[in-house]
Amino acid sequence: MKVNTAEFVISNSDASKCPKDPIPEYAFIGRSNVGKSSLINMLTGHKSLAKTSARPGKTQLINHFLINKNWFLVDLPGYGYARVSKSTKATFQKFITDYFETRAQLVCAFVLIDSRLEPQKIDVEFINYLGESGIPFCMIFTKADKLGKTQVQKNVAAYKKHLLANDWEEIPQYFVTSSADGTGREEILKYIGAVNDEINS
Ligand code: GTP
Ligand code: MG
Repeated sequence: MKVNTAEFVISNSDASKCPKDPIPEYAFIGRSNVGKSSLINMLTGHKSLAKTSARPGKTQLINHFLINKNWFLVDLPGYGYARVSKSTKATFQKFITDYFETRAQLVCAFVLIDSRLEPQKIDVEFINYLGESGIPFCMIFTKADKLGKTQVQKNVAAYKKHLLANDWEEIPQYFVTSSADGTGREEILKYIGAVNDEINS
């Protein structure tokens, strides 16, 4: 699928104030600094549509971006960043869980996982939370350019093994990406295009 237009629409700290449009949306979630905003920029081909930073905690709100005038990409704040202020310290901020639990338009959450790391407790907790809540999701292993291909494959295999050992019977759909070199772009856009087609058929 081609991205022809990508526009910022609105930022919210209240899930109930997000756009009411009955169009499909895809949300990006994961630990602070894992590369959510960078991936949105990579997928849309816009360098600074979503704000990125080398310092964790950059994205603080629910950000809606309208793509091709008929679906949304949603950039969310990260979780698991310890150095945030007390009021935002809850493991998964309430407005984020409200978003996931109330957003009827959400067709798929993309959970971003740093491909360099062994399975992190907080990511597995979030994946389990989505599973228990019946929210469809895919996993995305990010920053693949920072590792050799073999090491990425090894880490993904270790992740799968970890999920299978932790009550997951099936491995959710997953992608490997690099926002630095575009790895995974075509695959993710193709996936979103197919889901959109299915919804519209
Ligand atoms: P928060 O908004 O703080 O939750 O972070 P985020 O998940 O949106 O991360 P962001 O996209 O801001 O990226 C964090 C840092 O990682 C930035 O310095 C990016 O340049 C870098 N980064 C993101 N993706 C990649 C990637 O695929 N490869 C490399 N090498 N660096 C990346
Ligand atoms: Mg961000």
